Amino acid sequence: MTVALSDRLLMVYNAIDKERSLKGRVIDVGSDHGFLALRCLEDKITPYVICTDIHKQPAERTRKCLEDNGFSDISEVFCTDGLTGIDLKRYDNVVMAGLGGNTIMSVLTEVLKRTPHDILKEVDLILQPQKTSDELRVFLAKEGFEIVFEDTDTDRDLFYVLIKARFTGISHELTLEEKYYGPCLLLRNDDKAVRYKEHLDEIFKIRSRGNPELRKLLEERHVL
Ligand SMILES: C[S@@+](CC[C@H](N)C(=O)[O-])C[C@H]1O[C@@H](n2cnc3c(N)ncnc32)[C@H](O)[C@@H]1O
Repeated sequence: MTVALSDRLLMVYNAIDKERSLKGRVIDVGSDHGFLALRCLEDKITPYVICTDIHKQPAERTRKCLEDNGFSDISEVFCTDGLTGIDLKRYDNVVMAGLGGNTIMSVLTEVLKRTPHDILKEVDLILQPQKTSDELRVFLAKEGFEIVFEDTDTDRDLFYVLIKARFTGISHELTLEEKYYGPCLLLRNDDKAVRYKEHLDEIFKIRSRGNPELRKLLEERHVL
């Protein structure tokens, strides 16, 4: 039997391209319990996982989890900030789930400085920001990442969003609608995406009181 993932982590797991991950590593930044990495190895979707956590205890939890399940030889766990000390390779799948958007941006800023662009173009980013997803999208576009897929799900009545991105090196701007609702989610009309966008409308109505940019956007969308 494989480790059971929460609906949120299952959404993250499902966003990993299983053909690509067979050719490269899954790198879980902020692994905490290590369940995602464990599931990737149990399902044999990747030959190797790397986990990092900035705090000693969660890093140890991950190490023990992978060791207890017999995966020590095909995994490494580092107690480090983001990806510091880890060189990315072609076909790597970098997961950052349950981290704040600002933390994800700071990890990517460090990686951008030292990773050759031809390598970065072959790396999938699977991001599940807990907050600040709007600023994260703007950052990604500005730094030359294209958002190629987005998903959303609820877990214990909370909404979560997933952003998958690839580096193209082409810096671009997002529209306000793309920034706040997501370029891919905007194009989706399935129940999950519609419910998420309705949920955002309600949140943004409140936030728009102190945010003229959001107010303008909601007026354009006829939400206000
Ligand atoms: C809320 S948990 C999420 C765990 C798991 N990724 C998930 O989605 O269920 C966040 C974890 O990220 C770690 N973390 C926070 N900032 C980090 C950073 N800059 N680099 C690595 N790990 C970090 C925390 O110590 C914590 O274990």
